[in-house]
Amino acid sequence: MDEPANLSVAKILEMDRRLVVITGASSGIGEAFARRLAPGHDLLLIARRKERLQSLADEFQNKFGTQTEIRAADLSNESDLDQLAAELRARADIALLVNNAGFGTRGRFWETDLDSQERMHKLHILATLKLTHAVLGNMVREDFGGIVNVASVSAFVHNPGTTSYGATKAWMTAFTEGLYLELRGVRSSVTVQALCPGFTYSEFHDALGGNRYRAAGPAWWHTAEEVVEASLEGLRRRKLIVVPGWRYKLLVAIASKLPIGLRLAAESATGRARMREMPVHITPPKEIPEGD
Ligand SMILES: NC(=O)c1ccc[n+]([C@@H]2O[C@H](COP(=O)([O-])OP(=O)(O)OC[C@H]3O[C@@H](n4cnc5c(N)ncnc54)[C@H](OP(=O)(O)O)[C@@H]3O)[C@@H](O)[C@H]2O)c1
Repeated sequence: MDEPANLSVAKILEMDRRLVVITGASSGIGEAFARRLAPGHDLLLIARRKERLQSLADEFQNKFGTQTEIRAADLSNESDLDQLAAELRARADIALLVNNAGFGTRGRFWETDLDSQERMHKLHILATLKLTHAVLGNMVREDFGGIVNVASVSAFVHNPGTTSYGATKAWMTAFTEGLYLELRGVRSSVTVQALCPGFTYSEFHDALGGNRYRAAGPAWWHTAEEVVEASLEGLRRRKLIVVPGWRYKLLVAIASKLPIGLRLAAESATGRARMREMPVHITPPKEIPEGD
């Protein structure tokens, strides 16, 4: 999967000041990408919390003289997303797009509200699809640039209680792999990466509530900065799938090799504790009218 280091990728990361676009830049992994790249790049930061983005923009301007544009947008909203996609399509100065905005939910699929499941599909899938389409044509024409799609280890190892999350992250990984093959087919220098972190300190798990170390012990938790460094190192090496941390690399390697029966047994064993935390809702059997 690795290819020799490519000058244009090195330029994206170290030398060229062209634009880096980051969705979900108001906290966690997106903010860590912004902080890491601010000294060397202009930035376009997107999220719903405008004041957070503004304070990052002010900080980068003061510290590094970085030109930081911000857009307050809900990317699960069709009109916000289409507006941003149209704006990106019209710009030819984008060096790197990081499709990072995302969130989790917890609960058995049929017991969670459909609205949050729909929003998740729109954010993880439709936003990634439309923003990628908006920038990739220009990148391929110029033979320059990169896209990082922030997926998850959940793309490879599924868990009860997070069905849509695992499914949408698996889509992001498969989508990125398809792009990789198409770009390779035309010998393009454009680089795509599916970044697949495991548990990462951010606001993601705060929003879900509960004790984070009940999900996994401290050794399984990474900082957002570690995740970003792994991604940038992966970009330098033109790696398609980047899984930060040796434990997760091993986990993904083993899970991908296991026969499905064994993988499902392992997944349901590790998911049992998670399921115990979820209340059981038993739907009463439907009453069948007499005569049917
Ligand atoms: N933390 C983990 O353990 C972990 C593990 C694997 C993968 N990931 C993935 O990493 C990515 C970043 O998550 P994180 O851990 O950094 O969590 P986070 O701190 O909660 O950050 C999520 C970011 O997404 C933005 N966002 C959420 N919904 C949005 C929407 N509808 N429109 C626009 N922006 C939206 C949030 O900004 P606003 O609220 O301001 O809109 C925030 O900036 C996600 O895709 C997540 O699935 C996280």
